[in-house]
Amino acid sequence: MLRTHTCGELRLSNKEREVTLCGWVQKSRDLGGMTFIDMRDRYGITQLVFNMETNAGLCNKARKIGREYVICSTGIVNERSNKNLNIPTGEIEIEVKEFKVLNESEVPPFTIEEKTDGGEELRMKFRYLDLRRKPVKKNIILRYEMAREVRKYLDSKDFIEVETPALIKSTPEGARDFVVPSRLKAGEFYALPQSPQTFKQLLMISGFDKYFQLVKCFRDEDFRADRQPEFTQIDCEMSFVERNDILETFEGLAKHLFLEIKDFDYTDAFPRLLYSEAIEKYGTDKPDTRFEMLIQDITELAKGKGFKVFDSVEYIGGICVKGGAGYSRKELDTLTDFVRKPQIGAAGLIYVKLNNDGTVKSSVDKFFNEEELKKWASNMDGKNGDLLLVLAGERKKTLYALSKLRLEMGEKLKLIDKNTFAPLWIVDFPLLEWDDETHRYHAMHHPFTSAIMDDHHLFVTDPGKIRANAYDLVINGVEIGGGSIRIHDKQEQAEMFRLLGFSDEEAEKQFGFLMNAFKYGAPPHGGIAFGFDRWVALFGGSDSIRDYIAFPKNTAGRDVMIDTPSVLSDEQLRELSLKVVNK
Ligand code: AMO
Repeated sequence: MLRTHTCGELRLSNKEREVTLCGWVQKSRDLGGMTFIDMRDRYGITQLVFNMETNAGLCNKARKIGREYVICSTGIVNERSNKNLNIPTGEIEIEVKEFKVLNESEVPPFTIEEKTDGGEELRMKFRYLDLRRKPVKKNIILRYEMAREVRKYLDSKDFIEVETPALIKSTPEGARDFVVPSRLKAGEFYALPQSPQTFKQLLMISGFDKYFQLVKCFRDEDFRADRQPEFTQIDCEMSFVERNDILETFEGLAKHLFLEIKDFDYTDAFPRLLYSEAIEKYGTDKPDTRFEMLIQDITELAKGKGFKVFDSVEYIGGICVKGGAGYSRKELDTLTDFVRKPQIGAAGLIYVKLNNDGTVKSSVDKFFNEEELKKWASNMDGKNGDLLLVLAGERKKTLYALSKLRLEMGEKLKLIDKNTFAPLWIVDFPLLEWDDETHRYHAMHHPFTSAIMDDHHLFVTDPGKIRANAYDLVINGVEIGGGSIRIHDKQEQAEMFRLLGFSDEEAEKQFGFLMNAFKYGAPPHGGIAFGFDRWVALFGGSDSIRDYIAFPKNTAGRDVMIDTPSVLSDEQLRELSLKVVNK
């Protein structure tokens, strides 16, 4: 090695030792008689000192080196007179005896320090420089440590990691595929996997009864802070299991990560909430259960009393804001604007103030008397001093809007403890979702998910009511993972494809390989996949998964560093038998 120590390693206990360090110049300060350089590597920062009196030649050389030069310095570890206790090496400095410039650097496009002057776009363009910054580097290291702990835990439970192909045939996971043209077979395409779903099922048929893989998945879908077109799953599958076995095994993984990464000893069993209850109480299947403020249905109480807005709707519900009776007109207007945003979708907001003196003031005083409003209050656990916020409309949409309003109020009133984790399982999802546009059912999870045994009779009578043997892990309102017990019977799988509108020929063409495999002794099996990027971001304390990916895409799906997507040369297009229209 060119170095004896790293820049994060030396302490007072190393005093008077001769050491050699390599790294980058973070900054230098010239104080006339002395020149100081902060030298950085992956491990930390160490101060180098050059003394004009004792070695003028070396000091003059040091004055000439700029930010981000790569240098190698040899010197003696000294105790610092002016200690910096904010960094681990802050009690020492290196009195440099000799140093070499290993490589020069141009002036970087932004300052490479904890706080930088570089904007997002610029930092993404020079991502390799951004990654030198401590907060960014820290996130990538967290990601590595979590991956290591995932592997450690799953290995201890006898899982083996098996790689599956990246050039495959499309697997339906609800998004569009990225496709790769075949040069050898003109007009034919591979798809990049949205997940290795069918492969992990095939591995169960092969007898690898506990599989996992940290695997890249690709989905061409709309962007959000918690979505990237390529992202990583902790993909898992097990044979000879029932739902409870899966939930317990992976609750164990979550607890292992809580303990090893967050030093948080989570001993209680994770709560399990039915999908239907989650929707009813939180308006969403990814509830943030760090605070209460549950949604209450007051349709029965409020409908049919002559208030037109209410009388024509399917659902009326609301939340109770503790201590909110003092909200001003302006604050209520802001909340009304919030629920009316297109992405929230409510038509308006109705409020009821339960004043401290026992009187009631509401935006619907003309239509409901005090006695009626007090009934709402008792239904919604409203006490004197509280504020009721009520929305009305189509059930699903209104519950969604209430879920957003609940989160907004939770943030506003600082009810969410940012230092805690509230994990829970959501179970019993519907198997199917009706799509008004295509007039057919879609698999809510994916077409390989089995139905709950008790609901099999509904296949003929009422498919929309069938519950799936599916589950999600939600932590602090983030969907961290999801999975299901799979269909492992050929007939049942064929029936499912029919229900989803596939003709037998289409099903055979797209999934014949899986249906065929089911003929040769498929064991009962099930699994789950976790969004690794989301989990790292959650533990790192950020909403954006981009911060935890070494080389992410921007919000337009573009890698601005390597400047892609980009056009192909005519030669490449010819080879692939492709022609680009509407360039
Ligand atoms: P699902 O589609 O629910 O299940 O995906 C599993 C988890 O992956 C994460 N995730 C994403 N993360 C970042 N960017 C994206 N675009 C993205 N899409 C999904 C989420 C999600 O919970 N094959 C099934 C799993 C199974 O049944 O075993 C599957 O992929 O955290």
